[in-house]
Amino acid sequence: MYSNTVIDHFMSPRNAWQMPDADGIGTIGEPDCGDHCMMFIKVREEIIHEISFLIFGCGAAVASGSMTTVLAKGKSIKEALELTEQDIINALDGLPEAKQHCSNLGVAALQAAIKDYLAKQGES
Ligand code: FES
Ligand code: FES
Repeated sequence: MYSNTVIDHFMSPRNAWQMPDADGIGTIGEPDCGDHCMMFIKVREEIIHEISFLIFGCGAAVASGSMTTVLAKGKSIKEALELTEQDIINALDGLPEAKQHCSNLGVAALQAAIKDYLAKQGES
């Protein structure tokens, strides 16, 4: 029921590590009780030049988080903010209907990380 791309990204998630010196961090979900995702970004001249994530969720969520980092890396902040769940699902060659919502964790965490970065820029 899962595409080979989903299985590949679940078995070998890309960019799955905690970034200690991120420019922006986004957390989605409740770490104490359920599915959650953290995204870390480093930004250089408005481009996401490094990105990593940590996730606690089902296989589809792990694969989606991984694909989110792959798609966001090298994009401008503006382009990355426009990434949608459907972009992730398409890049994964589809997700089963019941698992489509799991692709939201990574995208939402990425948006939160970008907003965190922008807020920090405003402060400095
Ligand atoms: Fe924490 Fe439901 S969100 S128990
Ligand atoms: Fe909760 Fe997929 S992340 S079912």
